[in-house]
Amino acid sequence: MTSSTTTGTVGDGLLHDESIHAAFDTIVEKVGEYSAQITDVREPTAEIATDFKQMLTDAGKIKGRPLMYPSISSGVGNGALVEMADGSVKWDMLIGIGVHFMGHSNPKVIKAQLDAALLDTTKHGNLQTSYDAVTFGERLIDHASKNSRLAHAFITTSGAMANESAIKVCYQKHAPATRVLAFENCFMGRSVTMAQIGDSAAGRQGIPLSTQVDYVPFWNKDRADAMGGATKFIDYTIGRLERYQSRYAGQISTFIFELVQGEGGFNVSNPDYLKALMEFCRAHRIAVWADEIQTFGRTEQMFAFDYYGLGDFIDVCTVGKMTQACATMYTEEYNPKGGLLSGTFTGATVDFTVGNALIDELASEGNYGPDGKFAQHHAEFCRQVDLLAAKHPDWFPETPGSEGISGGVGGMMRFTPFGGDKKKVMQACRKAYDEGVICFYCGHGPFHVRMLPPLPVMKMEDWARVFECMERALGKVAAGAS
Ligand SMILES: Cc1ncc(COP(=O)(O)O)c(C=O)c1O
Repeated sequence: MTSSTTTGTVGDGLLHDESIHAAFDTIVEKVGEYSAQITDVREPTAEIATDFKQMLTDAGKIKGRPLMYPSISSGVGNGALVEMADGSVKWDMLIGIGVHFMGHSNPKVIKAQLDAALLDTTKHGNLQTSYDAVTFGERLIDHASKNSRLAHAFITTSGAMANESAIKVCYQKHAPATRVLAFENCFMGRSVTMAQIGDSAAGRQGIPLSTQVDYVPFWNKDRADAMGGATKFIDYTIGRLERYQSRYAGQISTFIFELVQGEGGFNVSNPDYLKALMEFCRAHRIAVWADEIQTFGRTEQMFAFDYYGLGDFIDVCTVGKMTQACATMYTEEYNPKGGLLSGTFTGATVDFTVGNALIDELASEGNYGPDGKFAQHHAEFCRQVDLLAAKHPDWFPETPGSEGISGGVGGMMRFTPFGGDKKKVMQACRKAYDEGVICFYCGHGPFHVRMLPPLPVMKMEDWARVFECMERALGKVAAGAS
């Protein structure tokens, strides 16, 4: 995708110069030749090991702590495979916690990056911008507005900053209300405000608590069954909301809905549960804000609110991660007054050219729906977990609260070995790294192994190869490896 500008300008001539684009095609082809050399998981290369060790030491020194994984890439990969700077090759089932959804060395991404290189400046902001930031927001709104009233997109550089804009929009609309409702175990980002709303004790350590947050439980089928069914669970949570409402009448500004919990454990909700809560918000003039920073693009619809069929309720929605640039979207009614939202940067040109390419890729035929490509990948992932459990039943004991041994939706995939024990699940992730799979954990107990794979470039047959590595890793944990 070529950067956009007005026709007839010098810039138009530059951006559409045929000789430049022919050179780009040569570069894309050349990158493809290197990329094609990466075909399977590989051990680190002995000769590079010393240099790599030094890189890790330097990286740890500059950060003030060792890297969580010795994960520095060499700059080339092939689809879901990535070469690390020690010469090893791994299945990247984490993609920088959900960022590189188009995989590694994807020709469309390389081309979009080259297009971005032509522009006169790297960064764009609210006072001077290229048109790519506009077309990026326009694409998001085009897709979001199919089934919602979302009308505007304010672009920014990180998920936490998009959430900061969202909360300001909600506060201003419902001033002087300042309280916030959220789900237990939610995650919102690392800014001072978001760290207070995110339900993690470690994330709030030493942070002044200036934001008043009340929590209600996220949907959990095991919990609903124990209560006597979905209706009982809905009644219980609505009862909690009614108590908050009578205790703080007129003081609640927004309910933040993380529609599929990410860090909280790849927990999928129940549409009736969400609908009852959103109806409550609407009846009491509480903004419904969907934090789709992790869910965007990954469920069985581009937006998780569409997956649940709840677009009509959404007042504010934030997206990030795979979008490269992040955005706060809101309805006409929530469009804030001038002066509330701004900032030096909206993002870099490359964020917008790659973000636009990503959105177009997502929108191409066949990805979404209950039988779409992303759903099929999820089904194959679950099938691989079942095969592993059938072979090693002792690795998969009954785990209360986990709703089965595998879960999530679309490109948010989790499985629960070793009863969801934190230490063993973390060990499993570390061993998986050594065996050739980059993955991570999630949840607050039970803990799960989580994968955020680059679905547009994954092949169905890749899954068996990924799980061969996982089997070796889990085998080492089961055998007592530290
Ligand atoms: C649901 C959710 N909201 C917000 C964020 C924060 O995004 P960022 O890390 O880009 O600030 C994240 C990041 O993991 C997230 O998962």
